[in-house]
Amino acid sequence: MMLDIQNIETWYGETQALFGASLNIAEGEVVALLGPNGAGKTTTLRSILGLSPARRGTIAFDGKDITSTATHVIANAGVGWVPDDRRIFPTLKVKTNLALGKKKTRFRSWSESEMFEIFSALEYLMDRDCENLSGGEMQMVAISRALLGSPGLVLFDEPSQGLAPKVVQDVMKTITRLKNEGISVLVVEQNAMSALEVCDRVYVMDHGRIVHEGGAAQLLEDEALRKQLLGI
Ligand SMILES: Nc1ncnc2c1ncn2[C@@H]1O[C@H](COP(=O)(O)OP(=O)(O)OP(=O)(O)O)[C@@H](O)[C@H]1O
Ligand SMILES: [Mg+2]
Repeated sequence: MMLDIQNIETWYGETQALFGASLNIAEGEVVALLGPNGAGKTTTLRSILGLSPARRGTIAFDGKDITSTATHVIANAGVGWVPDDRRIFPTLKVKTNLALGKKKTRFRSWSESEMFEIFSALEYLMDRDCENLSGGEMQMVAISRALLGSPGLVLFDEPSQGLAPKVVQDVMKTITRLKNEGISVLVVEQNAMSALEVCDRVYVMDHGRIVHEGGAAQLLEDEALRKQLLGI
């Protein structure tokens, strides 16, 4: 098991956002976390990363308890993050942003040339300042930065949001590539059909609770269940 979340409750001040959510991901498994706005998807990722630590319940990564661990320690252990708002340093060049993400973990390391194979445009952006990049270009930088950190688990928060179809395809191909390399993925997506096509299993969340857990193939085939859970 790469990630094992048991019954977490997470709060923002006086507001409870997660009410006993449980979720697990095996090594090399791609899991989608779906659900409506405000369901608690980003909060789940923030809890894993220690940015909004769970008040109750436990989170284990790679066999170690990380429930109350500092974010930088969790990152150094091999949890990669592609945030919904990208979080690129705007006044730094692309190559500097990428260099800042580099680290060694016990997991596979990636080279810049491998990033250029995945995102062919990236090579020509290396000397550009990040503030002038398009949304799609920033997403390429955010994903590459996460991979250069040698993750064993990558958390993607709405990676296809606002991207052209070609870049969405590149993102989904990257997720499949990670799976083939034995790296685990947790992907939060509004674009549920794209996510279902690349993932093994799905959790659906609503109002801070997991309301469905099952195989992706089942949701792809069962239109009635899909309509009921996702409205599509
Ligand atoms: N910083 C915060 N302070 C207070 N409440 C917050 C904060 N961030 C999120 N919340 C609340 O926690 C709940 C879960 O929010 P979260 O961002 O995890 O949802 P989400 O599933 O990621 O939604 P979306 O699809 O819109 O991104 C919501 O009710 C939200 O209003
Ligand atoms: Mg969110």
